[in-house]
Amino acid sequence: MARSKLGDKKSRHDRFQKRAMQRGFNSRAIFKLEEIDRKHKLIARNHRVLDLGCAPGSWLQYAATRTGPGGALVGIDRFEVDLGLANGRTLSGNVYKVSIEELLGDLDNFDVVLSDMAPDTTGVRQLDQTRSEQLFTRALDIADATLSPGGHFVGKIFQGPEFQELIKRCRFSFEKVKMIKPEGSRKESIEQYICGIGFQKPFPQPDSTMGPAESS
Ligand SMILES: C[S@@+](CC[C@H](N)C(=O)[O-])C[C@H]1O[C@@H](n2cnc3c(N)ncnc32)[C@H](O)[C@@H]1O
Repeated sequence: MARSKLGDKKSRHDRFQKRAMQRGFNSRAIFKLEEIDRKHKLIARNHRVLDLGCAPGSWLQYAATRTGPGGALVGIDRFEVDLGLANGRTLSGNVYKVSIEELLGDLDNFDVVLSDMAPDTTGVRQLDQTRSEQLFTRALDIADATLSPGGHFVGKIFQGPEFQELIKRCRFSFEKVKMIKPEGSRKESIEQYICGIGFQKPFPQPDSTMGPAESS
């Protein structure tokens, strides 16, 4: 008997989720970061990593395996996450409201800034794309303010009307820019990831004080 598309989607989701759990990770999102990192070698020993939209925590858990105990991990999400990582700190809050000082704590900067943030989807494609591009822009603003020279960025985006401008912005700030749709990402999903490799300079802002942003 033929299975419904919805049934196939659910069983694929469950399979990936089970595999992630078996490896001790909180979510199947791990497979996306693992693939990106294997390809571009972004996270290394002793790195300081910031993860924006970190719940339920698999990217931070993966980052911890790469940085080792000498690294430092900071995550933020609207939902509370407690991973019990000895070298990790998680904040609950909104990325549009948090300050750069709160993210840095006692660190001077980060070697890698990650964002797997996604808006609550409405099903209205244009609205979801716009909100995703706003989250991506906020992640880039935070990366500009916190990345060390030569640092790396990974951000999720639902491609919308601002996509080309955002790519241009990444090309301005990073030595290399790569786009990737990981295997772990469903074919029908409009998400993709943009990697900025080798941070060079922040994008000029009309007002560069970089306090908390206006949107919510
Ligand atoms: C796909 S999940 C991240 C999964 C995560 N990478 C992992 O491996 O477990 C996206 C997260 O982005 C968070 N998010 C979306 N908008 C946010 C915002 N404005 N501030 C903070 N977190 C946000 C959501 O709460 C959600 O937990």
